[in-house]
Amino acid sequence: MNLLNHVAIIMDGNGRWGLRYKNSRNAGHKAGLNTVEKIIKLTIKNNIKYLTLYAFSTENWKRPKKEVNYLFNLLENFLKNRIEDLNSQKIKLKIIGTKSFTPKLNKLLRLSEKKTSKNKKLQINLALNYGSKSEIMNALKILNKNKEKVNEKNFSKYLQTKDVPDPDLLIRTGNTKRLSNFLLWQIAYSEIFFEKKLWPDFNEKDYNKIIKGFKKVKRNFGNI
Ligand code: FPP
Repeated sequence: MNLLNHVAIIMDGNGRWGLRYKNSRNAGHKAGLNTVEKIIKLTIKNNIKYLTLYAFSTENWKRPKKEVNYLFNLLENFLKNRIEDLNSQKIKLKIIGTKSFTPKLNKLLRLSEKKTSKNKKLQINLALNYGSKSEIMNALKILNKNKEKVNEKNFSKYLQTKDVPDPDLLIRTGNTKRLSNFLLWQIAYSEIFFEKKLWPDFNEKDYNKIIKGFKKVKRNFGNI
């Protein structure tokens, strides 16, 4: 049976859910945050050590300002209200992506990371203003600038996920089969599960079913 150490999730479908049930995309994001909370609990319950969540991509800036602002307010309130509890549950929060938000949010993100940095129960990598291509280009530029030998080991140390094992399992909800510039290097050998349900509807039963499916897969890593 496969060990499951790291789950990465593309939480897609908030907008459609919100429009379908509440006539508002933002209502879908709010509901999506409830699913985030549930999935964090279940990830701990399953003794999984790393959870990487794609919350905002470098491409998401193209969305209407009202939606972008709503998402960042949601994030800010989430951190303000929940960081103490996450810390008491021994959860470590790490932001992957470029922290170029308002000075207030940048500070809150830094403080949240600092406060939880020693925790060992679960590491949550929250991908914010994250894009895999720009992460890869950045790593190459550093290698080039430092005149370091180009090899996997040197390259990986300049990725945002440098101390994190590659995801074993990638889940994408929302009935779309694409990777949307997420962890393209790191998912080279991840098992990928596409889920039809929209993120706010994704529940314990769905998560457990995928985990069960993952554990049964024969992972070859190029071998036979
Ligand atoms: C993709 O669905 C989802 C996002 C771009 C935002 C994800 C945000 C959350 C789950 C809530 C906030 C989380 C935190 C941690 C504060 P979409 O909007 O692209 O959905 P669509 O494909 O139906 O339009």
